Amino acid sequence: MPDRYAVIGNPIAHSKSPAIHAEFARQTGQALEYGRILGNPEDFAGDVRRFIADGGLGLNITVPFKEQAWELADERSQRAEIAGAVNTLIRLEDGRLRGDNTDGVGLVRDLRQNHGFEFAGTRVLLLGAGGATRGVLLPLLETGLRQLVIANRTASKALALAALGAPLGPLTGCGLDALAGERFDLIINATSAGLANAVPSIPDDCLSERGWTYDMLYGDAPTAFCRWGQDRGAARALDGLGMLVEQAAESFWLWRGVRPETSTVIKQRRGLS
Ligand code: ATR
Repeated sequence: MPDRYAVIGNPIAHSKSPAIHAEFARQTGQALEYGRILGNPEDFAGDVRRFIADGGLGLNITVPFKEQAWELADERSQRAEIAGAVNTLIRLEDGRLRGDNTDGVGLVRDLRQNHGFEFAGTRVLLLGAGGATRGVLLPLLETGLRQLVIANRTASKALALAALGAPLGPLTGCGLDALAGERFDLIINATSAGLANAVPSIPDDCLSERGWTYDMLYGDAPTAFCRWGQDRGAARALDGLGMLVEQAAESFWLWRGVRPETSTVIKQRRGLS
């Protein structure tokens, strides 16, 4: 029987992870099976334990279980610790579960490797202070950027996250209304505003000339925040498809010790090949 992995969430039917991992496995010649599990909100731990008891070697975790996966993990990486959420569970040799979070690495790798963004010396604005922001905090702080500012509609949440992350790097927090007069080389949207086709209200001129924008969401058409960037002359206005594929690649690497090639998978998902 091939080695078994799966993604667990609720809902789960829409998940692209099985197709992405099947492509990684084909490309790298790894014999594995990757399924999807509709998690029971009342018994997430039971679902995980059953999968592992049946021989499963690892899981990806998606909404709404990432925090429960964090609690369930027997040990955690530092980036998962800070994220307060786990999107990858790895069964260790002794049967214990290690929790990791590959979202931040996925974001940074997409920007840096796939698109050539140079973080060194930059001022980066991260919009939102929910789970999506927390999930990428540590990898962003480790890029060599000059300053990371978390700005949120509810300022207190941005200040709380900044207090958590400040010992780890050059981080501050504020409300969206405190951004007047500020300029950033990169603005990352980690709010859920795009789900309602909206953008956070930030000053038009807080994107520096030749600045980049990045929306963690993605869709078939440009997202609302991509359009915001395009309309304000962003040098690049990127969406989160590359991050999705890169976080999957990092999980694959954690499980298999092999790095898949991501660019063809990103193109396939974009419908370009
Ligand atoms: P996620 O796990 O996706 O981060 P979340 O924890 O519910 O989801 O957080 C959603 C984030 O999007 C919050 O930072 C929220 O701002 P508030 O804390 O002020 O609620 C932000 N958000 C959602 N809709 C928004 C909008 N229309 N404008 C600005 N920020 C918005």
